[in-house]
Parts: sequence; C-alpha cells; structure tokens
Amino acid sequence: MKDVVRLAFIGLGPMGTDLLRAAVAHPAADVTALCDGSPEALASAKSIANEKPATFSDYRTMLHDAKLDAVVVAVPQHLHAQVTIDCLQHGLTTFCEKPMGLSVNQCMSMIAAAKSVGKGLMIGQVLRYIGPYRFILERIASGDLGVPLVMRTTRTMGNWGSWARPWRLQRETSGGLLLEVNVHELDLMLQILGPASSVTAIDRRFPNSEVDFSDFITAQIEFQNGSIGTITSSCGDQLGRHSGEVFLTNGTIYYESLLDQVLIGQSGKEREVFPYAEIHPEWENGVAREMREFIEACLGQREISIPGEDGLRAVELAQAAYQSAAEKRTVHLPLHLPLPA
Ligand SMILES: NC(=O)c1ccc[n+]([C@@H]2O[C@H](COP(=O)([O-])OP(=O)(O)OC[C@H]3O[C@@H](n4cnc5c(N)ncnc54)[C@H](O)[C@@H]3O)[C@@H](O)[C@H]2O)c1
Repeated sequence: MKDVVRLAFIGLGPMGTDLLRAAVAHPAADVTALCDGSPEALASAKSIANEKPATFSDYRTMLHDAKLDAVVVAVPQHLHAQVTIDCLQHGLTTFCEKPMGLSVNQCMSMIAAAKSVGKGLMIGQVLRYIGPYRFILERIASGDLGVPLVMRTTRTMGNWGSWARPWRLQRETSGGLLLEVNVHELDLMLQILGPASSVTAIDRRFPNSEVDFSDFITAQIEFQNGSIGTITSSCGDQLGRHSGEVFLTNGTIYYESLLDQVLIGQSGKEREVFPYAEIHPEWENGVAREMREFIEACLGQREISIPGEDGLRAVELAQAAYQSAAEKRTVHLPLHLPLPA
C-alpha cells in the first residue's frame, strides 16, 4: 500500500488555497504540481507549498507532464465537469469543489467518468463537517430526539463583498444562488431527511444590481419518507443569516447564526442552549477534515466519504427548484433534464 499521495491543485483562488493549506499540513500529501491561469495566484500558492511544486498555467499540460496520483479541482463551477472528467480520464482520484456541476447531466457524466476508470470522485460538501452543522447531524444520529419530520432552512446574504467575481454574479457560470451558496444547505437537508421526491419553488428578481439571476428563491421539498423541507435563499438580506429548524418526533432543534446558538427543546426537559463558540472547539476544521479524508481514500485507507452521488443529489434539488420556479409547477424527481435557461 502507498504511503504518500502525489497531489495537484487546479484553481488556486481562496478555496483552492484553503484546500492547499490543509494538504500541505498533512504528512502523507506530496504537493507535486499547481495550476492556475493567474501568475499571482500560482506564486502565492507555491510559497504556501514551500516553493516545491511545479507550476502550470494550463491544466492539460500539467496532467500530461506531472507524475500524479490525485487532483483537487477548485476552479469556478462552470468548469468543474470538464476539468474533473479530464483528471479522471488521466487515471487520477479527483476531489471537486461544490457545487459538483451546473446540471444533473454534468454530474452524471462526472460519475460515469469515475466509474469507467475505476477512480474515486469526492465532492467538497464541507458544511456537514463544520461545527454547528456537524453537531446537529451527530445529535440527530444519536437518536434521542427521535425521527426528523420537517426541516426549515434559511441562508441569506446581502452584497457579495470580497466574494464578487464576474463568474459568481452570472447564472450561466455560477448556477445562481441555489448552486453557488445553498447547495450546502440542500446537502444538509438530504443528510437529515433522506432522498427527495419533489420540489415546488418560486423565485423573484428584486433589484439586486450585482447579479443577473433571481435574488430570492424559496422551495418546498417533499422527501421519499414523507418528511418535508423548505429552503429560502436571497442575496438581498442586509442582515444575512444562516438559520433553520428540525422538528423531530421527540424534540426540536433551532440553529441561528444571528444568535450564534443551537437551541434544543424536548417535552418535559429544560431547553438546551449551545453557543457556537462552545461547540467542540477542539473539532478538526472542516476543510482539514475533507482533505484528510480525501488523502486517506487516495491511500486506500477508506472509501470516498462524500461521493459524486451525494454531489449529484444536491445539484438535482437546485435544478428541480429552478425548473419548478420557471415552469410554475411541482417537479418530480429523479431529474434527467438539462438545467432550464
Ligand atoms: N466549500 C465552500 O464553502 C466553498 C467556498 C468558496 C468557494 N467554493 C467553490 O470553490 C471554487 C472556487 O471558488 P473561489 O472562490 O476560490 O473562486 P475564484 O474565482 O476566486 O478562484 C478560482 C481560481 O481558479 C483559476 N482558474 C479559473 N479557470 C481556470 C482554469 N481553466 N485552469 C486553471 N485555473 C483556473 C482562477 O484564475 C482563480 O485563481 C468554486 O467552485 C466555488 O463554488 C467553495
């Protein structure tokens, strides 16, 4: 069995750089090559990797020239499918950032490429590894609150600030809010409520001049086990929040970024209050965990922990919501249609 993974990174903006830092800190990662079209991004990343990796401005040249075992893809999402498929076809285990792709068809092509070469494909649905969300998932899994029946999640923001990029502000390249931002909450809902069966959504474009897509969308989702979820997303909220509730048969969980707290109620028991800052500060950072798990999968020490199928299911919900809003009808899953324009 191998004990070192020769790793390359494609796309070294803020996200690729975070993933790179996590890899550099892992003793089994040999960061061999870096690729970005921006010389500044490449120089900064190379210094983080102790000036060792070879640098490339073209990823296809890198895939041809460098001796690699695995690749981390953190380019903007309209490029995820093509770049990931090219990496897989070079026989490389591949980590692709969220959202996996911009459509179900893209995700299915990525999964097919991974299967045809027999290599692992992991998707960066990191929210499930981050403090309060990991805590909620673990508390639900512990079973004392019973079975989840309903979930409400709201994640809204105002201006894009330092995240503004031309690609991020356009539907064609970012996929819109549900893919760019809320694919995280969709994944969380799927983790809690299981596979979904239908989506009904409504959206509006209020005058947020930064983006060319709807800046408010709300969707109701039915799940195969009869549970229901709602998601609300906006980039027109100057307070900005990430909150939600999970109603279970024996209790209720409420999480709220405006309070920085998770609250848990159970009949006949005193309310439990967990300030975010006190939720296991010793827990491994989410990005460090996803990189560690990816490296361990490359070494054959574990299965891929967030496979392409999980990325596909979250993208499918977003695509179904946009289709529902555009066609003013409930959309039933599974989907095998391209993302509507
Ligand atoms: N998991 C999370 O919470 C999270 C957070 C932020 C971003 N992301 C995702 O990570 C990805 C990157 O986001 P970002 O904020 O770092 O974006 P960014 O635009 O700041 O950086 C992307 C980098 O990719 C480079 N690039 C673009 N096309 C390239 C190509 N063909 N070959 C090589 N390099 C290329 C750009 O030069 C840039 O340096 C996106 O898919 C985004 O959705 C995930």
